[in-house]
Amino acid sequence: MQQIDETRLNALMGRLVGEFGALASAPLVILGDRLGLYKAMAGAGPMTADGLGEKTGLRVRYAREWLNAQAASGFVEYDPVAETYALSPEAAMVLAEPDSPAFMIGGFEVLSAMFQDLDKVQKAFTDGTGLGWHEHSACLFSGTERFFLAGYNANLEPSWIPAFDGMAERLRAGAHVADVGCGFGASTIVLAKAYPKSTFVGYDYHEPSIATARERAREAGVADRVSFEVAGAKTYPGRGFDLVAFFDCLHDMGDPVGAAKHVRQTLAEDGIWMIVEPFANDRIEDNLNPVGRIYYSASTMVCTPCSLSQEVGLALGAQAGEKRLREVASDGGFGRFRRAAETPFNLVFEARL
Ligand SMILES: C[S@@+](CC[C@H](N)C(=O)[O-])C[C@H]1O[C@@H](n2cnc3c(N)ncnc32)[C@H](O)[C@@H]1O
Repeated sequence: MQQIDETRLNALMGRLVGEFGALASAPLVILGDRLGLYKAMAGAGPMTADGLGEKTGLRVRYAREWLNAQAASGFVEYDPVAETYALSPEAAMVLAEPDSPAFMIGGFEVLSAMFQDLDKVQKAFTDGTGLGWHEHSACLFSGTERFFLAGYNANLEPSWIPAFDGMAERLRAGAHVADVGCGFGASTIVLAKAYPKSTFVGYDYHEPSIATARERAREAGVADRVSFEVAGAKTYPGRGFDLVAFFDCLHDMGDPVGAAKHVRQTLAEDGIWMIVEPFANDRIEDNLNPVGRIYYSASTMVCTPCSLSQEVGLALGAQAGEKRLREVASDGGFGRFRRAAETPFNLVFEARL
């Protein structure tokens, strides 16, 4: 039998206790969101469990247990003398304010879908089939919208669009934009609000997402300039777009090269193909970090099975990296390709004919 190094064993077990705690507290984060607990604490200063129960109309005994778990997670601060709990302004940005650039609750909804769809992914592993986006639990769709919206609010108008030569001016003057694989239309609507003279059409093959996107456009008061249609990336209608954007969806597609070829057909002569993909380096060893860990995991459960469920099934994965993505654009007929911007979570590329 191999010799066991007790120090290494204890270190690994200690780490897994932390992991287990993080996962055990994940449903409580979702409860905190759904039941309005974080919102009730945001900006309210220190409060007792009774105070939180009263403010939310929830049973105090439940509120107290939830608060103790939040304090153990380090999400709220506990004062043992006053027996009060407080949500800091920073924690409020992450947990209570959907419009803040740091809001992270959507990621927990995605995590919930990953657990709920475990059996389906297990089946796909064993029989080699795929699992389409549409076959997942609904919290994946809403979680994706909420998780990405924060980044779109923070980056699209201030930094990503200005990184494309002349595009901000074109959008301000009135441009024609397609948002392909638009999901609930989060990016489409952020753009539409920023550039009121432009018109937008969002496409997605997933019908329920398109129905929600239409609702979102009505709620945002932009439905006169924003439409949403059910269509795949290789067949969507329309021509002469100044900008065709793919937000976090190219790697989910079975045939990204086929999609690239179609984009080429639908762009205006001097149009830009904007590709936003999860941040990744080209080499696996350079992605073995906390962000890469999240993306490789989501890619295993969602993105890779989605691509494998479609024609061609290229399965780029969510950590494709610039080199692979450049090849896709080049195979699709794009002569120019450059990294225009990046954040710790995103790579933003500009492709031109
Ligand atoms: C990770 S979600 C991103 C959604 C949205 N772009 C966003 O940023 O919130 C991927 C989206 O790609 C869509 N999708 C996947 N394959 C597609 C295809 N072949 N054609 C059109 N949409 C596709 C899915 O339905 C899903 O809405």
